[in-house]
Amino acid sequence: MKHLIDPTDLTLNEIDDILALAERIISDRPAYAEVAKGKKLATLFFEPSTRTRLSFEAAMLELGGSVIGFSSADSSSTAKGESVADTARTVEKYADIIAMRHPKEGAPLVASMNVDIPVINAGDGGHLHPTQTLTDLLTIKETTGRLSDLTIGFCGDLKFGRTVHSLIKQLSRYENIRFILISPQELQIPDYIKDEVLIKQHKDFREVERMEEVIGELDILYMTRVQKERFFNEADYIRLKDSYILDMEKLKNAKQDLKILHPLPRVNEISVEVDKDPRALYFAQAEYGKFVRMALMMRLLHLAEPQGKGEGTC
Ligand code: NCD
Repeated sequence: MKHLIDPTDLTLNEIDDILALAERIISDRPAYAEVAKGKKLATLFFEPSTRTRLSFEAAMLELGGSVIGFSSADSSSTAKGESVADTARTVEKYADIIAMRHPKEGAPLVASMNVDIPVINAGDGGHLHPTQTLTDLLTIKETTGRLSDLTIGFCGDLKFGRTVHSLIKQLSRYENIRFILISPQELQIPDYIKDEVLIKQHKDFREVERMEEVIGELDILYMTRVQKERFFNEADYIRLKDSYILDMEKLKNAKQDLKILHPLPRVNEISVEVDKDPRALYFAQAEYGKFVRMALMMRLLHLAEPQGKGEGTC
């Protein structure tokens, strides 16, 4: 494992190892406070972000390393016309690892092909978001105790939602996962995910339009916002933006141990009244994101675990 561009760049063993390391970090944070001393993370964010960028930065700081970077394309030389490859080649001279978010699908892959330091895809257009997938896996594992035998409902913008594409791709690698895809017709999952992942791998999935029809079957409900910035036309966004609003009324028929996930940011697809329900896990999920990114960066940088922890590096 040199870079993380697609969730399937990691074997299932590597994923288990990263999740186990994240669990060890959670149980003894002070022990990991200096493992990345002298290392620098560059966060190259050509698109807005709160959780992903700040959790990467917090993760590196919590490991004792430091952070450089930018948080918008306007404040980098992209505004002058520089290519992604040249930006990456330059940053390689200043940092030990790169986390890149870009509106164009494939941009982090291009960066990774041009440098010798690890590149992490922190979200590329409507394509993939592998570190959110690791976050989601850690949240599911910590709260249900398993990554198999689950019925998961994905609800909202399944067309443009990269976190959904990434998590479906990844969960398809585990045993006995049932996928229920809840979206309006216009926002259904792209054909390449349906054909190449769900159909080709004979996964149990179905597409529905009404959340109420299926909510009682779910172990996990993965809510998403309608991705305004990826619409070509404002009128379509306005028509579709309020397609689903999860509230306490809809939760009446849900399982008592349902887990409600959301990569955030939320717009209005989960009513704030749901936040105090113990099934609402989205803010805990954001915290798991920091720990899993600590674990991932330790592995990509081949950092040794503190004495007495784990089995060493992979
Ligand atoms: C997601 C993203 O950027 O794709 N956010 C995140 O990274 N937590 C989801 C979104 O923006 O809707």
